[in-house]
Amino acid sequence: MLIIFMGPPGAGKGTQAERIVSEFGIPHISTGDMFRAAIKEGTPLGLQAKSYMDQGKLVPDEVTIGIVRERLSKPDTKHGALMDGFPRTVAQAEALDRMVEELGMKIDHAINLEVDRDLLLARLTGRRVCKSCGSTYHVEFNPPAKDGICDKCAGELYQRADDTAETVATRLDVYFEQTAPLLEYYNAKGVLRSVNGEAGIDEVYREISGILRGVE
Ligand code: AP5
Ligand code: ZN
Repeated sequence: MLIIFMGPPGAGKGTQAERIVSEFGIPHISTGDMFRAAIKEGTPLGLQAKSYMDQGKLVPDEVTIGIVRERLSKPDTKHGALMDGFPRTVAQAEALDRMVEELGMKIDHAINLEVDRDLLLARLTGRRVCKSCGSTYHVEFNPPAKDGICDKCAGELYQRADDTAETVATRLDVYFEQTAPLLEYYNAKGVLRSVNGEAGIDEVYREISGILRGVE
């Protein structure tokens, strides 16, 4: 099953993706995570991506499409994948269509998490991420049992460099200008489903899982 998670920064894509991939046994392909890993390793890709990410802008299409093409071609996507944060432009969506066709796959679902702009701002500025395992928390909405420490692996929690109020505002503008038009792209293909992303984490999960299992 090939699933695309749509929705603005902070809508809960990463939070829900963690759960969905473990339920469905498919790999989680997050372009944001791939760029952050490249930055941590200091690779040329990381150096290139960092300047765009720090400003809240999109990494150029040819770079992003290249890494997704490489990742989707790996054997573990045989039974599908969950795409998180890709595509984000019409050019990326068209490139994904071509890749999917070449690989003999099809896009089964595009799930759009809907959340109001003010709430997105609060979610992103309060987000904390585990340095070791990447799990996501929120200081208020989803706090760890012990302040600053990951529940799952006892790793240290940190704030993403692009989660400052100023960069978040740019990321939201970029989303509404460049990525939101893709909702119509997937709606026209008949695969788009919108979910109320403002509900609690468990409730959002139940709704998405129901859609994917075809039981809602
Ligand atoms: P990326 O890493 O993809 O970030 P994003 O899309 O901005 O999304 P986020 O990770 O910020 O949000 P999310 O929806 O996953 O929310 P989360 O679950 O963490 O991209 C970063 C950058 O990389 C981009 O700006 C760009 O530069 C570059 N990039 C990446 N992909 C690219 C592409 N395709 N093309 C070009 N450039 C690209 O939740 C947020 C917070 O809310 C958390 O604290 C969480 O605990 C909390 N929360 C989640 N759900 C709930 C809930 N239901 N109730 C209460 N709190 C909740
Ligand atoms: Zn952890």
